[in-house]
Amino acid sequence: MLEGKNALITGGSRGIGREIAITFARHGANVAFTDLVYDDIAKSVETEINGLGVRGKCYASNAAGFDETDATVNQVASEFGSIDILVNNAGITKDTLLMRMTEEQWDAVITVNLKSVFNYTKAVQKYMLKQRSGSIINMSSVVGVSGNAGQSNYSASKAGIIGFTKSIAKELGSRNVRCNAIAPGFIMTEMTEKLPEDVRKQWIQGIPLRRGGTPEDVANLTLFLASGLSSYISGQVISVCGGMQT
Ligand code: NAI
Repeated sequence: MLEGKNALITGGSRGIGREIAITFARHGANVAFTDLVYDDIAKSVETEINGLGVRGKCYASNAAGFDETDATVNQVASEFGSIDILVNNAGITKDTLLMRMTEEQWDAVITVNLKSVFNYTKAVQKYMLKQRSGSIINMSSVVGVSGNAGQSNYSASKAGIIGFTKSIAKELGSRNVRCNAIAPGFIMTEMTEKLPEDVRKQWIQGIPLRRGGTPEDVANLTLFLASGLSSYISGQVISVCGGMQT
């Protein structure tokens, strides 16, 4: 489905980003991915991708840094030749009630989750505009649509991503560049492992399909949005949440 395409994924060493990287590679894409550090985990993703007969390379780069991002994107474009797909996946949580939330917790989540999407989209757009094609996929969340107590910083960052996505779809559509957002529900990764067992059980009880999602569930939707199968879909927010949000 992605034969001959070059993809760039942020936060690709673990969780959902890792699964997207490997799924894209299985479908024929060369994959550049970023993470905060180039460690053994990142190396294992590279090895898995290269074992699939396509190119995989990790770039240690903080998605929250504007200049750092621009330099990384230019390096990827020169080493891979083009960037056809961008997945803005990197994200963090610093959950607490507003009453206890510090300025640092607010700033960290907004900068890593929302500013990173601006940083990467801005740096990649020049290449996509020139080649007159591209698919940008931004990882939002169901709580960006519905809000969630104890996650005002995270929900605000994910709602911001939705506004950004819709605006970019309108700005870049005439050059055949699409931009969509994914709103995952409760997906079982290191991010959700941090939650107490009773909170996790409570979440699952509220899901019509009665299970947490897997990174693969999200990767399959990302693959669809990256591929030509979704060539007339732009500016949309699509949930992958087991029916939790309707
Ligand atoms: P995760 O914590 O398992 O993986 C995130 C990856 O991003 C890690 O490898 C981490 O090192 C990297 N990362 C963090 N900050 C970074 C930065 N500044 N620059 C570069 N890389 C950075 O998280 P998970 O669960 O895989 O989440 C991926 C995305 O999906 C996030 O944007 C998250 O908000 C979103 N999401 C996750 C849900 C879930 O239930 N797990 C639900 C809804 C959305």
